Amino acid sequence: MHIDELDTPALWADLDVVERNISRMGEYCKEHNLALRPHIKTHKIPELAWRQIGSGAVGIACAKVTEAAVMAAAGLDDILLAYPLWGEHKWRNLLALTERAKVSVATDSARHAHATAVALGEDRKKISYLVEIDAGGRRTGLALDDSLSGHVARIAESGVPVRGIMLYPGHVRQVEDMDISELNAQIGQAKSAFEKAGVTVEIISGGSTPTAFYSHRIGGLTEIRPGTYIFNDLNYHSLGACTLADCALRVRCRVVSTSVADTAILDGGSKTFSDAAGLAGPGFGMIEQYPDALCEKMNEEHGYVRTGGCEQRPATGELVDVIPNHVCTTVNMHRVLYLARGGEVEEILPIAAAGKIH
Ligand SMILES: Cc1ncc(COP(=O)(O)O)c(C=O)c1O
Repeated sequence: MHIDELDTPALWADLDVVERNISRMGEYCKEHNLALRPHIKTHKIPELAWRQIGSGAVGIACAKVTEAAVMAAAGLDDILLAYPLWGEHKWRNLLALTERAKVSVATDSARHAHATAVALGEDRKKISYLVEIDAGGRRTGLALDDSLSGHVARIAESGVPVRGIMLYPGHVRQVEDMDISELNAQIGQAKSAFEKAGVTVEIISGGSTPTAFYSHRIGGLTEIRPGTYIFNDLNYHSLGACTLADCALRVRCRVVSTSVADTAILDGGSKTFSDAAGLAGPGFGMIEQYPDALCEKMNEEHGYVRTGGCEQRPATGELVDVIPNHVCTTVNMHRVLYLARGGEVEEILPIAAAGKIH
């Protein structure tokens, strides 16, 4: 089947680009002796996680325990929950996960560490913790100040083995020497705090896609957790983290109306692209065939494209491919990913963990 035959809107990816992205990251990690633990929130497809394992990944990272359950059911048996999960449902599911996989969990407070340990009871030793530090994103993670060693000591008192440190340098957009030296200093500080707390650091887990290929310059990292790199997107392209040729994923839409002047309406809106927040400027993505067109805004099932500035304009009925701003949230809206080579669909993969947000 050719991609022209797909019902629209259709989520598809160029298999050559996906394979190149997977192997490039695998090779980089091998070269620099870094463990690769891809974050699967980007694709949510066990089959793609297995291909990442095939490139040398030691395991996977997930945000949610239900997402992890889908991966574990497919045999992926080394999982980091890089998220401070909390609540009876989650702890029950966490325990069930330990039956199938080696599980570590990010924690950033003694309160969370102890609550999880109490919920797991005698089984608490079936998981381990990575203590998250705030590398500057101001989202989660303990502050790098004098209180850190005390927090680490109290987390260790939970009885769950503490294996190391986790950080997410998601705020580092343009990777410059400044940022790297700051990250280096932070890791040094965190290691000293662990030492003071008498806790051995076995793992230092970092890495986002924009920082991934700089990881060998970030002192002490033992593993990285890039996720977006498998597909890449327009946001990361706008940051200089990838080229357009590295962007594998497209949403194929049909132009369903051009009756309003200087406007083309696509048959995909916010129920197709999700938040699609743009880092580069306004819009929800870029049309590959009409890069000058402005993908201006969305209703649920309408994508508004302003074509006033275009030399060539799409006609009603035409098929176009949108490179989305944010692939991770876009993928989560779909049930199936088509993988194509040279326009021919080679594989149809169910997005098994789509909607797994608990
Ligand atoms: C904790 C954590 N680790 C790793 C990643 C992967 O980063 P990226 O999307 O830049 O590949 C994310 C992304 O949200 C994350 O939240």
